[in-house]
Amino acid sequence: MKAIPDNFQLLTFNFQLSTFNLINMIIHRYKSVTSTNDVLKGMAEKGAPEWTAVVAEQQTGGRGREGRSWYSPPGSLYLSVLLKPAILPMELQRMPVIVSYALAEFLMQEGGDFSLKWPNDILLNRRKVAGVLLEARTQGEDVHYIVAGIGINISFGQNSLPADLRDRVAALEEIIGDWSIDSMLKRIHSSLKIHYCSFRDEAWENIREKWSSYADWNTLVFFRKGSREVAGYPQSLSDDGSLILRTSEGVIVVHSGDIITGY
Ligand code: BTN
Repeated sequence: MKAIPDNFQLLTFNFQLSTFNLINMIIHRYKSVTSTNDVLKGMAEKGAPEWTAVVAEQQTGGRGREGRSWYSPPGSLYLSVLLKPAILPMELQRMPVIVSYALAEFLMQEGGDFSLKWPNDILLNRRKVAGVLLEARTQGEDVHYIVAGIGINISFGQNSLPADLRDRVAALEEIIGDWSIDSMLKRIHSSLKIHYCSFRDEAWENIREKWSSYADWNTLVFFRKGSREVAGYPQSLSDDGSLILRTSEGVIVVHSGDIITGY
């Protein structure tokens, strides 16, 4: 039998979403990992079921989008959730919108000036408070699984933020003093469960509309295209989850990459 590492604990939450829905999420909780996404991917490759999750108190190699690192000291939430939706690879582009909306919806219940920035950033007072890194394993027309990595800045406590992040990031402690990680996990889970099947038809239209109502359409943004930056105003979210930008060079569709705001 394999020894269980010291920093490993297996928790199973069984709780009621409503009077008739029972939710199960198996959460592997760690003190420290390189990246919760990497740990969960290992589990997914070994056949872990949907809704398996990995949460860590800190990450030593937290990863963000576009090859960036994600500052991950103790005090914030680092979570990865395994999803196996019946989805085509071409529908994957909708997932960041869906997952970020699910997160934002639960955060917004706390009040505070939250907004969304394409594709999957959640801002508090116009500074980034949460990010999502989705990594999928696909083969031909099949999506085997998606690892949805979620980082929420809760408190930076004694850890002074690196200088380059100071003006750009926010933490939930700015609006709320007392967050319990366990209740946050339950609420993320139920919000994800409600929304994550919204990649089809009517439900997608609904989420696209809701997402759009929280996005900032009036700020000039810059889109990096190779070595150039193109300035423009976001116009709408396209049917496949891409961003339509109105620029001086005409309307362009941004499928991936970074949108940079002045704030
Ligand atoms: C981004 O906005 O660039 C995405 C950040 C995603 C960070 C989370 S923290 C949990 C999970 N593990 C990682 O290494 N990254 C994601």
